[in-house]
Amino acid sequence: MSTLTDSIDEMVARRRPGYSLEQEFYTDPAIFDLDVERIFMRNWLYAGHVSRIAAPGDYFLFEVAGESIIIIRGSGGEVNALFNVCRHRGSRICLEGQGSVKRLVCPYHAWVYDTNGALIAARHMADDFERDQFGLHRCHVRVVEGLIFICAAAQPPDFTAIEADLQRFFAPYELADTRTATLLRHVVEANWKLVAENFFECYHCGHTHPEFCSVMSYGRAIDSPRLADEQAAFVAEWEAEMERRGYLTGHVEVSDERVHQCHRVPIRRGYLTQSEDGQPVAPLLGQLTEYDGGVSSAQLYPNIWFVACSDHAMLARFTPLSPTRTEAEFSWMVRGDAREGHDYDPERVSWLWRTTAAEDWAICEDNQRGVNSRRYQPGPYSRVEGSVDALLEWYLRQLSLYRPMSM
Ligand code: FES
Ligand SMILES: [Fe+2]
Repeated sequence: MSTLTDSIDEMVARRRPGYSLEQEFYTDPAIFDLDVERIFMRNWLYAGHVSRIAAPGDYFLFEVAGESIIIIRGSGGEVNALFNVCRHRGSRICLEGQGSVKRLVCPYHAWVYDTNGALIAARHMADDFERDQFGLHRCHVRVVEGLIFICAAAQPPDFTAIEADLQRFFAPYELADTRTATLLRHVVEANWKLVAENFFECYHCGHTHPEFCSVMSYGRAIDSPRLADEQAAFVAEWEAEMERRGYLTGHVEVSDERVHQCHRVPIRRGYLTQSEDGQPVAPLLGQLTEYDGGVSSAQLYPNIWFVACSDHAMLARFTPLSPTRTEAEFSWMVRGDAREGHDYDPERVSWLWRTTAAEDWAICEDNQRGVNSRRYQPGPYSRVEGSVDALLEWYLRQLSLYRPMSM
């Protein structure tokens, strides 16, 4: 039950910049419902990788806060995102999380849709029933580098900049031609914003992620002037070498117009990839001819995080389930022709982020339990948590900019 005593507009207006949000933003069902409507039903979301629907009729369900979207390969090879809601009396159509179908048949009264969502059969309807008016409702879809994005809004936000930057930072890896080495789903007992805040800062990395800090040299550099100097020199040296070899370096940051950030950074001296010992864990991806010791990453509001190094990639999405529950899904990708047990070991490929994510989930759940307390009050961010503040500013602007969704 909602605990709100003030209007959302009042709560947004009195937010103190540079501070975490009031308790209700992390706990209240009414605010959660607004989050779903104004954030998750209006923005581009990462649904999954194209390898999950290789052939026409292959599908998987993308579930977001009670909505169920059928991501299905159409008869012409296109990717469709269809609301899993029958146009007769509203039954769910697909009940299994994934599968392969020739047609979509509603289990209730057997209306039949094709893989593009058109209604092709409906028994005993009136003579003037117009079948073509009853196709399944659709989401907008974009596929970039094998990554399927959907947007449920009637007018989706501009996708041009996201597409251009993902291509610029990820094209060399040819992610469209990768396969899933292993996939991990976990329900985090925390509000989606606590999970998102966590993955937008590394203030916590030095003392909570020993494995991450043993791999990524920037992890501890923020806490030591000496390590910070060494890190700056290492990055400058690596960037000069990458430029000499013709490889991308640099970054783009979140701004008023941009809801994503992309970075390309070195791992650690002597490390070729993000593995426990820095040694390769899979064959080189895409067009690469050597291990360059770098990692490309992208973080997109509200729920997306991608990382790619020379021989594997990690694709993560976070979707809200309830005010205090969030589903995390991590996929580790390797070359499409790599063979498990021969070319790679899923445990070695996934070691870094599997370990780090488990630590993050525990932190987020502790954070939620503390936020639930009657003594919780918004606290101030440090100098190195500016990206969390930017995330929340964007979030609050989205709440204020609300226009009802029309189909
Ligand atoms: S609800 Fe789907 S056929 Fe009736
Ligand atoms: Fe973390």
